[in-house]
Amino acid sequence: MKYTNEELRQKINEYKEKLSVTIVAHFYQRDEVFEMGDITGDSLELAMKTKADDADYVVFCGVGFMGQSVKVLSPNKRVVMPKLACCAMATMIDGFMYENAVSVLNDAGITNENILPITYINSNAEVKAKVAQMGGLVCTSSNAKKIITNALKEGKKILFVPDRCLGQNIANQMGLKSCVIGDGSDLNESDVICFNGFCSVHQLFSLDDISFYRKKYPGILIATHPECDPSICDASDFVGSTSQLIKYIKELPEEQKVAVGTEFNLVNRLRPKNTYVLSSTKPECPTMNETTLQDLYDVLKSIDDGEPLNEILVDEETQKWAKISLERMLAL
Ligand code: 13P
Ligand code: SF4
Repeated sequence: MKYTNEELRQKINEYKEKLSVTIVAHFYQRDEVFEMGDITGDSLELAMKTKADDADYVVFCGVGFMGQSVKVLSPNKRVVMPKLACCAMATMIDGFMYENAVSVLNDAGITNENILPITYINSNAEVKAKVAQMGGLVCTSSNAKKIITNALKEGKKILFVPDRCLGQNIANQMGLKSCVIGDGSDLNESDVICFNGFCSVHQLFSLDDISFYRKKYPGILIATHPECDPSICDASDFVGSTSQLIKYIKELPEEQKVAVGTEFNLVNRLRPKNTYVLSSTKPECPTMNETTLQDLYDVLKSIDDGEPLNEILVDEETQKWAKISLERMLAL
C-alpha cells in the first residue's frame, strides 16, 4: 500500500510506540529517513551507540556493512534493514581478494608475522574476520590515525584495506611512506601498503572544483573527507571524517564560506548559509539514497506481522572473529 510521506511518518511513529525497535540512521541518509532516526551519527558513533541500546530490533538505515557490524557486535539483537544497500567500496574486497593481497606481500618477501592488517569499517564481516585472524583490527575515518599510530608500535608493515585513499591520506598526515598494491612501488619501501579500493562518490571532487571555488570566493575554506583522492586532501584546508567535518563547519564564523567535499545529503543539512558542495556533479551516495520512508514503514510492518524483512545474519565463526576485529578498535 502506498502512502504520502506525512502518512508514512505518522505510521512509523505509531510502530515506534508499539514495537521494541530502535531506528538507526547514518548521516548520509535522505533527510526524511534521517529525521526518523532514534540514533544518528557516523559509522563509529552508530556502532558504539547501538551496542549500548537494549531494544529487541535494530532497524538500520544505512549500507550493508554497517548493519552487519551491529549484528556482529550484538549477536543477540535482531537487525533488519529497510533496504539491503551495499557500499560500493565494501564490495571491492572479499575474503578471497584479501588473501590474494596478503600473498602479494608474501611474494615480496614480507611474511605474515611482519604484516599487521587494518580494515576500514567499510568492508564485509568476512574481511573483518580474516583481518582479526592475522592479529589485525578495524578502523573508521574518525580513528584511522590513532589506530595506525598504535599499530606501528608493533614494528610491522601495515596492510590497509580496502580504501587506498584513506590509507594514503593518513600515511601522508603522519609522514609515513605508503603505496598501493599494483602501482609498481617496492612494497618493502612502504610503511602502509594499501589495497586498491576506493569510494566512487568521493572520487567526484577534482582540483578544478577547488580552483573554481578559490577563484570565485577568495578566502573560502575547503574541507574534505579522507576518502577523497590524496591530491584533493593535500589541497584542502581541513580533512576529517564525517563527525569531524560537522564539528569543524559548525564552529566556523557565520560569514566564513566553506566548500565541502563529501556526500550531498550531509552537506546540504550542515549549515543554512555560506556552505557549498565542492562539485559540479551532485555527490550523492546512490546506495545510501536507496532507503525511502516507504521501505522503513514496510520493514516495521513486517516486524509487527512477525515476519521481519531483510534480516542481517552472520555465521557464528565469521561473527566471532569479526567481533574481535571491531572490539580491538573499540578498546582503543
Ligand atoms: P563515516 O565513517 O565518516 O561515517 O563514513 C562512512 C562512509 O561510508 C563515508 O563514505
Ligand atoms: Fe560507501 Fe562511498 Fe557510499 Fe560511503 S559514500 S557508503 S564509502 S559508496
